Amino acid sequence: MTAPALPALIDPMVRAFLDDRRALDTALDVYGSPLNLVFPEVFTQKLTRLVAELSRRPARYRICYAHKVNQASSFVRAAASAGIGIDVASVGELDSAQGAGFAPGRIEATGPKGTAFLRRLIDDGVVVNVDNQWELDTIAELATGSAPVRVLLRVSGFDPGRVSRFGIPLGRVERAMATLTAHRDRIEFLGFAFHLDSGDVGERVRAVDRCLTLTESAYEHGLAPSVLNIGGGLRQVFTADAAGFERYMLALRASLAGGGAPMSWGSTTFGYQVDGGSVRGVPVFHKYGNTVAAERMLAELLDAPLERHGGRTVAQVAADNLLELWLEPGKALVDHAGLTVATVEVVKEASDGTILVDLDISRDAVTPADQEVMVDPLVLPGDGRVVDDAPAQVYFAGRLCLERDLITNHVVSLPWVPRPGDLVIFPNTAAYHMDLSAASASMRPPAAKVAILRDADGFRTCADAEFLAATAAGLSEAR
Ligand SMILES: Cc1ncc(COP(=O)(O)O)c(C=O)c1O
Repeated sequence: MTAPALPALIDPMVRAFLDDRRALDTALDVYGSPLNLVFPEVFTQKLTRLVAELSRRPARYRICYAHKVNQASSFVRAAASAGIGIDVASVGELDSAQGAGFAPGRIEATGPKGTAFLRRLIDDGVVVNVDNQWELDTIAELATGSAPVRVLLRVSGFDPGRVSRFGIPLGRVERAMATLTAHRDRIEFLGFAFHLDSGDVGERVRAVDRCLTLTESAYEHGLAPSVLNIGGGLRQVFTADAAGFERYMLALRASLAGGGAPMSWGSTTFGYQVDGGSVRGVPVFHKYGNTVAAERMLAELLDAPLERHGGRTVAQVAADNLLELWLEPGKALVDHAGLTVATVEVVKEASDGTILVDLDISRDAVTPADQEVMVDPLVLPGDGRVVDDAPAQVYFAGRLCLERDLITNHVVSLPWVPRPGDLVIFPNTAAYHMDLSAASASMRPPAAKVAILRDADGFRTCADAEFLAATAAGLSEAR
């Protein structure tokens, strides 16, 4: 059986860039292959859509771009220019944010932190989103300066069946509030925070409701919270054909169950439990079939009625209680704002006739190992030839000498068989794909990162590392 296609949704700016082969070829001439391309203009468009939803509703808000999603300075700079906040989770990210022009008051630090990082945050006047009781106690010890340290308390455990690595469990918030009350002179409590891994709006609404209850209890402790931080988790839309994705998944399950030709490499099961003819469980993939854009998911959350508050919506209740809503979107802001370009090195046949397309990039540069990219890469002829080959089913393989360095563990349908020198474009890799796990094994340098800019003369490229200087100089450095 022929595996169904998994066409990727492509942003219009990215599509225009790819259609203008001169711009892509120039980027490759200057920076080589493989290459990570980022599009700060797309970042700004995504931000504008979230801002539009928020500003239509009564609650005050602050968007903090979750830097961890991508290391690109160009995104950080786009966030700084837009006047939003930033969420940093390491000293490196803090340096990057400050270098891009973020004042301390617009920076919050999330995730677990050690003493050295806490000390730096306190010295710099950054808001600390406290992950655990030890952090809070340590802040109380270290906070001896003239200005109180501003903190949020991250709480977790809304679903008793799921234990989180992060945040103060609900049952232990009382103790944290006692610490906050005891140290009011040196710690200013801004409010409660959460971040959920799931993309489920209902779960978020329940978390908001619990945080509102905690906020009421904080007032009773004499604290004066003014913020409710709902974290990140707004989803991306990867696919141009959600029904096609479902067809692929059905075919994949059938093939794992032994029906039809294999659609996966070796013994890969993508997290499914395969037991003879039965295939159970949940795959490791993102929600590639999702068609709900981040701004719609945000609108649904803001408009969700809260039963305990007479059916008033999340946005209304936040406004009624003078709570500023903080958000930490990562992947939603860089959705479609990046892609990865690789070059075909060799096309070969395995002993069972499988076609393997070896690339000059490894799996970890396109996706974290436990994930699988479930949209098809685009293949462009490297020599500009007109392509008329017959469709093919292939696996893309990486450049490491490891059997497991398969870039796709699922079979990919292509309109034609690639040749050495052809370009392979992995779409939509800016969110956790290009940066999260890329290593420089075998002494191969990681892919260069290049920002793509557009002006009246067309597309320009600028090394991401030079982006700050280039934008400061009115893009005069951009090529
Ligand atoms: C505390 C926190 N906030 C925000 C984010 C960003 O999440 P997303 O990229 O799903 O929006 C993360 C991601 O891990 C996180 O840990």
